[in-house]
Amino acid sequence: MQTIVLATQKGGSGKSTLAISLALAAIRAGHTVRLIETDTQGTLSNWRRRRQYAEPVVEPIYAAREVEQRLQSLERDGVTVTIVDTAGGVSAATNSAIRYADFCLIPARPSIADIEATAATLSVIRAWHKPFAYVLNQTPIRGAARLASAENALSDEAALDIVDIVARPVIMMRNDHQDALSAGLAVCEYAPCGKSAEEIRGLWQWIEARLGNVVAATDEPIIDEFGETPAIIPKWAALPSFGNDGALFLRMPART
Ligand SMILES: Nc1ncnc2c1ncn2[C@@H]1O[C@H](COP(=O)(O)OP(=O)(O)OP(=O)(O)O)[C@@H](O)[C@H]1O
Ligand SMILES: [Mg+2]
Repeated sequence: MQTIVLATQKGGSGKSTLAISLALAAIRAGHTVRLIETDTQGTLSNWRRRRQYAEPVVEPIYAAREVEQRLQSLERDGVTVTIVDTAGGVSAATNSAIRYADFCLIPARPSIADIEATAATLSVIRAWHKPFAYVLNQTPIRGAARLASAENALSDEAALDIVDIVARPVIMMRNDHQDALSAGLAVCEYAPCGKSAEEIRGLWQWIEARLGNVVAATDEPIIDEFGETPAIIPKWAALPSFGNDGALFLRMPART
């Protein structure tokens, strides 16, 4: 089973919407999919209540300690892809989801506030040596310059090549996403021939191709030791550390 976690501390960047869209794209690609919601805001559970179809099941798991065991039992039950939607901010449940992820997606709107807000999440992902990619979401249709500058900022922040860390295609801002959500559908059901659905299918294919390389990526972590990365983690990013019980603490670096 592959566990994909959507995380970023910035609210409204599209974690829940993308989790739903990707879940349906994965089902259409032949996977047995489960959605896990660690966000008590309940966007996925509310969507599920508006939905007339049985699949995908949405499972709320709000306690960090339950994540690992639940993922193990889903794998035993034959689920092939689990997509985890996390809350904005940094929490023990998000930390736990990242810890047991095979791949992390960091959605970001192409704005400086969203890009800056990815830093804390990126720090946690790197502390657990997880492969990741940004998904540029809610991109204005006429905004090529803004998009290019956002991609450059993200690749600077991660100190990696854009091709490796910005998922393709970028997801444009389109009403279909909001309309599908309110109808209890995903875009590939709501407007299967539309551009939003096409982008989401493309994004799923990009992710699937990357998942094929996940073993190599985790065997050979992007960074060997957290703490040896001053050039990669921005100075202003909070640094995560973990207590004996796995709880996450964020400490701000001393100002120089
Ligand atoms: N590509 C898109 N085009 C248009 N609207 C979008 C797009 N992606 C997301 N949205 C809308 O933006 C809003 C916020 O998205 P969403 O709830 O998925 O963000 P989130 O990151 O899960 O937020 P939170 O941190 O509060 O959980 C929703 O109304 C959603 O429908
Ligand atoms: Mg959400």
